[in-house]
Amino acid sequence: MRGYNEIYELLKSYNQEHLLNFYDELSDTEKHSLLEQIESIDFELMKKLYNTRNEHVDANKEIKSFPYVVADELSFDEKKKYINAGIEIIKAGKVAVCQLAGGQGTRLGFDGPKGTYIVNVTPPKSIFEIFADKIKKTYSDYGVKVKWYIMTSNANDEATKKFFKENNYFEYGEENISFFKQSELPLLDAEGDLILSDKGKVFMAANGNGGVYEALKSNGILDELDRLKIEYLGIGNVDNILLDILDPLYIGMMANGGYDLALKTIPKTSPNEKVGVVCKIDNKPGVVEYTEISEEMANMRDENGKLIYNEAYYGIAVFATELLKKIEKGLTYHIAFKKNSYIDKGGRYMAADTPNTYKFEMFIFDGFSFSENMLDLSVKREENFAPIKNKVGEDSPETAIKLYNDFYCLD
Ligand code: UD1
Repeated sequence: MRGYNEIYELLKSYNQEHLLNFYDELSDTEKHSLLEQIESIDFELMKKLYNTRNEHVDANKEIKSFPYVVADELSFDEKKKYINAGIEIIKAGKVAVCQLAGGQGTRLGFDGPKGTYIVNVTPPKSIFEIFADKIKKTYSDYGVKVKWYIMTSNANDEATKKFFKENNYFEYGEENISFFKQSELPLLDAEGDLILSDKGKVFMAANGNGGVYEALKSNGILDELDRLKIEYLGIGNVDNILLDILDPLYIGMMANGGYDLALKTIPKTSPNEKVGVVCKIDNKPGVVEYTEISEEMANMRDENGKLIYNEAYYGIAVFATELLKKIEKGLTYHIAFKKNSYIDKGGRYMAADTPNTYKFEMFIFDGFSFSENMLDLSVKREENFAPIKNKVGEDSPETAIKLYNDFYCLD
């Protein structure tokens, strides 16, 4: 590791030497960890991200609709063929699942890993346990223990692992569950400077769920998939209690058609619903996020009055392992201006009541552009999507529990 002087010079060349303003007040361990943290930062990237912060990610890109297949319109024979194919693939141990669980659950106002949130179904269960039930059902149906990967972040890695341990890995076997951590990126203040969360700590946050590709590679998961001869990895959001990755119809259809990527999507409820829409971006598969879609695009209708961009990505995608290997670094960084309290250059705690910091995130669906052949299977919302995002109102525990109970015919 580089010493203080070298790190100071590095910071000076980017006008960021204020990060060492309180160095003398730190313990030896804190000093070491601060220098180590600074050394890991790509300052050139941060400078570029700040300088391009006002450029719209989809500017000058050609956007078109993406063709999709409606699951309900498949014939009985087609369904049977795909389901049987899917079952064979699952039985052959060729599928693994991965949950994106590095997010913070800020909107839910829950101070812990989202997967550990207890949902008031009967009997009450954590989100992770609900998923464990699904994966265990696959085991009882097909006799195969599908490998379960969980992506965490620095903020929740320890708490997530502790929760699984305390719950005895939901009787699924510790050896069948693996955790891996995504990376972080520094936050920037309004002037483009890095900031401190503590006197000895640069303010960093998870680099977005698009960090999954790099994390799968750097944590050796891609090599493990190869070793275990796993050909498909289904990746899903942690916050959907009806998440159904191990759906034989879906997997069988993907394999049968030789697709390298398959999404399940659902029709939007309204033009303004907070979901990303599947489309072609510069002729490649992609998603335009709800935070970035223009009013005009969200409201475009065809001659029958139907929304042109109507199929919502709801956080489920099955990737051929081979495709995951091809997805390189260099995904777009999306920007958000958010409220964050931090230590200013004079050592004062700056409580934020208005947005004051830039946060940069990669999105998983930007990796879809590497696919040469993507399937979009439109499925029934009420059987697949019960998200827990907000404390109350839309997409809250209350709405998710109702959907869950209806699906499982519970009271
Ligand atoms: C996400 C989708 C949106 C989709 C919606 C459906 C993205 C970028 N957006 O929106 O298109 O319609 O879900 O519910 O995927 N996560 C990490 N690490 C991070 C950030 C997030 O693992 O650094 C995980 C979260 O834990 C969660 C998932 O990614 O499981 C989705 O993240 P979130 O930020 O909640 O996305 P939404 O805004 O809900």
